Amino acid sequence: MRLPKRIKLVEVGPRDGLQNEAKPVSVEVKVALIDRLTAAGLPVIESGSFVSPKWVPQMAATAEVMAAITRKPGVSYPVLTPNMQGLEAALAAKAGEVAVFAAASETFSRKNINCSIAESLERFAPVVEKARAEGLRVRGYVSCVLGCPYEGAIAPAAVVEVAGRLATMGCYEISLGDTIGTGTPAQVQTLIAAVARRLPVEMLAAHFHDTYGQALANLLAALEKGVAVVDASVAGLGGCPYAKGASGNAASEDVLYMLNGLGLETGIDLDRLIAAGNFISAALGRPTGSKVARAKGGAA
Ligand code: HMG
Ligand code: MG
Repeated sequence: MRLPKRIKLVEVGPRDGLQNEAKPVSVEVKVALIDRLTAAGLPVIESGSFVSPKWVPQMAATAEVMAAITRKPGVSYPVLTPNMQGLEAALAAKAGEVAVFAAASETFSRKNINCSIAESLERFAPVVEKARAEGLRVRGYVSCVLGCPYEGAIAPAAVVEVAGRLATMGCYEISLGDTIGTGTPAQVQTLIAAVARRLPVEMLAAHFHDTYGQALANLLAALEKGVAVVDASVAGLGGCPYAKGASGNAASEDVLYMLNGLGLETGIDLDRLIAAGNFISAALGRPTGSKVARAKGGAA
């Protein structure tokens, strides 16, 4: 097996995870989680979203969170920005990186951001341009790359088209989201091969939800195709409010355990990552979603 030597693990728990919590999570707990993730050595910690609080109330305090975290030099703390209003808020919060989020499914696009795919791309272009002009890096997400909760199967060509448009716009990295976790490894490899015919594989990130228990297998399949950026969620937190039934991303602890076993470098301390996952699980009052943390005696 030839795999990339070094993997960038993008922690999305504080955003993708906590956006889906039924009970409000306080700013203090979010900040304590992010600071613990920083201490564990994560290079990127997605810390919130500047979206409409009517749509996703769980992310309403992102400005307070961004103001209170201890930022470590060299670590990126991106936030989601669906429009210019979101970008303005991100600039005010001194974010160094933002993310725009599109979908490969028309119906999901409408349910998630209230516009068509074409309209979303038109909306993102000036956001990306302004963010870059202000010196920010911009990540682009494509949701529903392996299936949509409303439309079912999604053709790889639809993903290639949206990913290509986001890259042309100026996104430095394209995260491919299996939002509902229905994909399986052969589908992942077919998809990555198709996208990699349009974009350098180094630009691609794997963002796999574990709803059907396929996330780790799918990640390994993506690594085999040369993907070296992996999104994961500490304690397996989360889902998506506009994808009913979706569970969290692959748990960061489980992903790191696998990467360590493969001899791949990440710069992350597994014990500290487990401690961060156990902290947030205890704060939420439920068992951790990480199998590794559970095996090592984590929050029960
Ligand atoms: P809209 O209703 O069409 O927006 O929503 P609008 O421009 O007509 O504005 C309506 C109201 O929202 C106005 O307030 C605006 O001020 C406000 P009002 O006048 O009614 O009081 N508003 C905002 N407030 C704060 N920040 C903003 C903002 N923009 C407008 N940025 C909109 C369109 C995109 C805003 C809305 O649909 C939205 O916020 N959607 C976000 C949905 C979301 O966050 N989903 C989860 C993240 S995506 C995901 O999880 C998938 C991913 O993980 C990858 C994967 O797994 O596939 C990334
Ligand atoms: Mg997601």
